[in-house]
Formats: sequence, structure tokens, C-alpha cells
Amino acid sequence: MGRSSKDKRDIYYRLAKEEGWRARSAFKLLQLDEEFGLFKGVKRAVDLCAAPGSWSQVLSRKLRVKISDGDGGSEEVRSEEVKIVAVDLQAMAPLPGVTQIQGDITKISTAQEIIRHFEGQPADLVVCDGAPDVTGLHDVDEYIQAQLLLAALNITTHVLKPGGTFIAKIFRGKDVTLLYSQLKIFFSGVTCAKPRSSRNSSIEAFVVCLNYSPPEGYVPNMSNPLLDHSYDVDFNQLEGPNRIIVPFLACGDLSAFDSDRTYPLKLDASREYQYTPPTQPPICPPYQQACHLRKNNLLAKEGSPSLPLDQALSSMQLSSQEQQSAPDTKQS
Ligand SMILES: C[S@@+](CC[C@H](N)C(=O)[O-])C[C@H]1O[C@@H](n2cnc3c(N)ncnc32)[C@H](O)[C@@H]1O
Repeated sequence: MGRSSKDKRDIYYRLAKEEGWRARSAFKLLQLDEEFGLFKGVKRAVDLCAAPGSWSQVLSRKLRVKISDGDGGSEEVRSEEVKIVAVDLQAMAPLPGVTQIQGDITKISTAQEIIRHFEGQPADLVVCDGAPDVTGLHDVDEYIQAQLLLAALNITTHVLKPGGTFIAKIFRGKDVTLLYSQLKIFFSGVTCAKPRSSRNSSIEAFVVCLNYSPPEGYVPNMSNPLLDHSYDVDFNQLEGPNRIIVPFLACGDLSAFDSDRTYPLKLDASREYQYTPPTQPPICPPYQQACHLRKNNLLAKEGSPSLPLDQALSSMQLSSQEQQSAPDTKQS
């Protein structure tokens, strides 16, 4: 796909580059905030599964206060009070005011590290846009996504203050009511929200969980994500009061761009289209090795023996050392 055709096909991808967001997902959190006012009074926030960092960018831009410098201008200051922690398995390029933890959200050590960073104080807000690598097998993908959400809920029970807010990506698959029932044990308000920038063609949505209020005597425990409560596994057949339903909310009105539509490159008559490069190229993408092998014609070809992996890897290390010593190094 050509560079400009992706801009044409995906309006939020293009707007993200124009406005300096690292990923189009930034608009999802912005639109959720427009609907729910998520950031009011938030001083400590956690971004789970944060890479490449567009949600952390939103937190950084929205939470850090602007103070007037007295000359009519304004100066952004890093408020001592605002702390943002971003967690991901992958490394991500630094962001102002955001502390990064390269770690796994299913591990208790990650929860402890977050708490250490907040000096023992609980978080006001936890967001999670986590997604596993999709396999294309819908049932498997939904299951893994559900497990990731429960891991996020688990870590949240360790770090969130009573009354706090939790936002997480959810796949509205056939077993989604089990997740709703789990969330409703911990939060008095649970809504399933679909921002306009999330494609209608995707089963993705976001649970907005307000007012964290764990059951009395609940002790956070990473090894047991599902609480054993009276939940009938045959929930799809349930009718009436036993069925777990949470309100569904489409965020944004019809004036927002439709993420499933294709838009012309020239959006407004007064402005010519100009290609904008991505805001932050990935710093250590998992496909780096494959790109290197292809670029250097090292990929195995039909009928010819492939280069042994250790040779391919050492040629890659050599090439990255050469790149680092070159004065005009560019990230590919
Ligand atoms: C869709 S991306 C997040 C995009 C991000 N919200 C943004 O706006 O830039 C999903 C991320 O989940 C991360 N992830 C998946 N499983 C994880 C785990 N167990 N612990 C930490 N991060 C995880 C992946 O590494 C990936 O970076």
C-alpha cells in the first residue's frame, strides 16, 4: 500500500500523524474522555500495555498543568504532583513526565514497581489498551484478550484507590458477559463504550469502570484472576435478572470522522494534502530481524539453502554497529 493511500483509507491514522500522536489509538482515549471526563483531578495514572505510547502521550498532555507565566503566554510545567507510569513488554521511546516500566502486567513484580514509583500512594486512574498478537482465530483471540483484561483488572486491584477509574479494551465476543460480571464486582459503574475512532467493523470496545469499590475483605491476589462468585456458565441462555447487561454507549456525535469511511486526501479546499511521516517510528520492533534479512537478501529462497540463523544474526549485529557509527543514521 502506498504511503498516501493509507492516509486516504484511514482518516484517524492521518490525523494522528498531523497532530503528533504516535498511534491513531490516541483518539480513542480522547473521545472516551470527552464522554466521561476521565482526567478531572487525576494526579497518578497508570497506562498498562502502553507501547508505542499514544495513550501515555494523551495522559502526559492532559494531566500536566499549564501555568500562566504572567506575560499573557503560558508555560507547561512538570507538576511535581502528577505521576504517570507506562508499562509494556516492549521498550518505547521516552515521553515527558512518563516513567516507563518494561514489564509484564501479569506479574506481581510489575504491580510492586508501580506502587514503588507512586511512593506507596494509590493511582487515581488505570488505563489499558492491551492487545495480544492476534492469531486470526476469533475464539482464541477473544480468549487471550479476555485473559489480558483480567490481568489488567488484577494489577489494578493492587494499585487503584477506592473510588478510582479503570478503562480497558474489551472484545465484545460471545463470552463478554462473564467479563462484565467480574468487573461489576469491583466497580459500581460499568459501561461499554465505543469511540467513533474505533472501527465499527471491529469487535473492539472499551469498558469504562467507575468508582472502584472492591468487596469487603478482598485481598488483591495475582494468581486468581476470576473471583468465584455465583455465575452460571450457561449465561447465554439466561433471561431476565440473571443476564448481565451493561449500558452500551457510542461516544461522539455524527460530526466526528467515521473510522470505517474513506476520505479524500484534500479534506478542505484551502489546504493542499501533504504527506506526514509517522510521529515516532518503533524503536525496537519485533519485525526488525525480518526487515534486515530481506534488505540484505538473506531470506531463504526456494531451492537454495538458507543462511544459518547464527550467521544471519551476527550479520545483523554487524550492520547495526555500522549504522550506529555512521553520522547520518536514520531509523528504518
Ligand atoms: C494496541 S498496543 C497498545 C497501544 C497503546 N495504547 C498506544 O496508544 O500507543 C498493545 C500493547 O499491549 C502490549 N502487551 C500485550 N501483552 C502484554 C503484557 N502481558 N504485559 C505488558 N504489555 C503487554 C503489547 O506489547 C502492545 O504494545
